[in-house]
Amino acid sequence: MLIKRPDDIKSSEITDERLYYDRRKFILAATGVGALAAVGASVSWLRATGEGVDPVGLSTPFAEDEEDVLTSYESITGYNNFYEFGTDKLDPSKHAHTLKPRPWTVAVEGEVNKPQLFDIDDIIKSFPSEERVYRLRCVEAWSMVIPWLGFPLKDLLDRVEPTSRAKFVEFTTLYDPEQMRGQKRAILPWPYVEGLRMDEAMHPLTLLSVGLYGKMLPNQNGAPIRLVVPWKYGFKSIKSIVRIRLVREEPAATWNVVAPGEYGFYANVNPNVDHPRWSQKRERRIGEFRKRPTLAFNGYGDEVAHLYEGMDLTKLY
Ligand code: MTE
Repeated sequence: MLIKRPDDIKSSEITDERLYYDRRKFILAATGVGALAAVGASVSWLRATGEGVDPVGLSTPFAEDEEDVLTSYESITGYNNFYEFGTDKLDPSKHAHTLKPRPWTVAVEGEVNKPQLFDIDDIIKSFPSEERVYRLRCVEAWSMVIPWLGFPLKDLLDRVEPTSRAKFVEFTTLYDPEQMRGQKRAILPWPYVEGLRMDEAMHPLTLLSVGLYGKMLPNQNGAPIRLVVPWKYGFKSIKSIVRIRLVREEPAATWNVVAPGEYGFYANVNPNVDHPRWSQKRERRIGEFRKRPTLAFNGYGDEVAHLYEGMDLTKLY
């Protein structure tokens, strides 16, 4: 991945901690019923504890002085990876205004009894969102804490009735170089594709997100609908999805195809398997200056480690 090393992040790109504490109070206060109703959401999993947040009600695996604090809205929406709009972290917020998230459809097809073409607004109405605070750990050794609005992917998959032959799920981003200027250059084989094994896709932590911080998903974060898989490196969380296909074979996921020695299909957050060009042992939380230890499965091991029992995760990284 073309990356900016965490050490290269300019201090101007990092929000002052005091500011985002204040901003967080402001934004949470501003996420009234109106804003949430706009995306059919109901807040349920957010539990603020002082300035910290206990993500998704799970035990907080960091030491007490390393509690999770929501990353500022400005950082979440201003520091992005979305190569369809350029390779610099600041490109998506500058250029993603050309993406038109309406009208938008998502085809759910393949090994299913009831393939369906969903209109995005019907998805939002039929699958009410809840707020879930998840850590996002990017493969580039930085992380954020994001209050997503979304619903379990499982709810959508159940609707189309997967057949017993469905072993994997393949996700595809929109291909439209007129809307996505980065697709005019062959930086990656477009469209961006990702995949999950069926049990990962059906896991209750796996979300389809349609919003964050109580608002509709900004274009640079993958409007109008993106995947969020909190125990995997961020590149699995594919944005601006137009097709979800249930398949028999492991899908050809973009980064895995481009650089298989660097980006595995599973991509579970694993501090014990270094990227060939940098360590994965520590990470910098955007908005903080120190580094913290990276946790196996990004801290969600109690919930997901059983999915990988018997697998050698140093080989199947
Ligand atoms: N999805 C698409 N279609 N294109 C991309 O370039 N980048 C991935 C992922 N999803 C990417 C994508 C990577 S590397 C990361 S870290 C996350 O999106 C970043 O999500 P965020 O910008 O909302 O933090």
